[in-house]
Amino acid sequence: MKKELEQLSQSAKQAIENVGTSKELEKVEQQYFGRKDGELNNILKSLKTLSDKEKKIFGEAANSIKQELRNLLEQKKNSLGDKQVSEQIEQGELDVTLPGRKKDLGSLNPVSTIQYELENIFRSLGFMILDGPELESEYYNFEALNVPEHHPARDMQDTFYIKGKDQGARSKDEERLLLRTHTSPVQVRAMQKYGAPLRAVVPGRVFRYEALDASHENTFNQLEGLMIGKDISIVNLIAVMKTLLKGIFKKDIKVRLRPGYFPFVEPGFELDIHCLICDGRGCSVCKNSGWVELLPCGMVHPNVLRAGNIDPDEFSGFAFGLGLTRLVMMRYGIDDIRLINLGDLRFLKQF
Ligand code: PHE
Repeated sequence: MKKELEQLSQSAKQAIENVGTSKELEKVEQQYFGRKDGELNNILKSLKTLSDKEKKIFGEAANSIKQELRNLLEQKKNSLGDKQVSEQIEQGELDVTLPGRKKDLGSLNPVSTIQYELENIFRSLGFMILDGPELESEYYNFEALNVPEHHPARDMQDTFYIKGKDQGARSKDEERLLLRTHTSPVQVRAMQKYGAPLRAVVPGRVFRYEALDASHENTFNQLEGLMIGKDISIVNLIAVMKTLLKGIFKKDIKVRLRPGYFPFVEPGFELDIHCLICDGRGCSVCKNSGWVELLPCGMVHPNVLRAGNIDPDEFSGFAFGLGLTRLVMMRYGIDDIRLINLGDLRFLKQF
């Protein structure tokens, strides 16, 4: 046995040494290490028939030979590789002075770019970044937000309903599923999960049943914001909105609040910004008013706080629903909303 091993080790070393190409090396590897009839493997297999004492002695010897041969094979593999490259260069087959091939890099959709910028701004203000289901229960999308079943506000946000049950349904109202019409359902989900005080923003896709045109899409993006604590007031709302706008537009932006109706806030507002295209002088974008509607917002309605298991006598808060898609259009001067989801490279390559 000992002799057999020594011979094998000798001949294998010799064979590895003599090899000149990677192909030949593969053959040698097969000859000794091949799973089926590799010579070394055969020896290792035959160890089974030996006595325990012999097994120990020859087993150790065989394994150290195996290791040694493996190392040699590896070294040879590397040197053959090097040799091939240097030979190729010598023979002029490989020109290492040629410039490399440039890989085309993609870029982010402008919606993502602005979303990440906003996330950074809000993170610096201590807000969490949250996520919620796009397929939402009727309960969270409407009911929990103080929009009862036959309320006309449901018509303003008509959407696509899906047959089937919400798995977590606790009442009849929760049973129907729909493509969420806004990111607001995550308000109540977040309150239920984290309680008060709470600061969170929720970027996400929303869906509506719309006839498509230059300013209407069935799929667009919003960024919901929610801040709940003791003594939170409209002053906090305005301060956060101004910080947000300054972060995005890199300068102070004039804002104004108008009353706006959303069942889940009271009082509710439309926050307008001074038109950046004409600097307030009047243009087609602001319809000659000097102001552009950008941010619906308001103080969270007590019923919504209750739905989120938060006591409205102890806590108050504000919420807003920033139209991410609209913000993108304003910042880059995009005049047709349909371009954003189209995936047309001529459009996307501009960013
Ligand atoms: N969810 C409302 C919408 O999509 C916007 C909104 C959010 C209004 C939060 C007020 C407070 O139209």
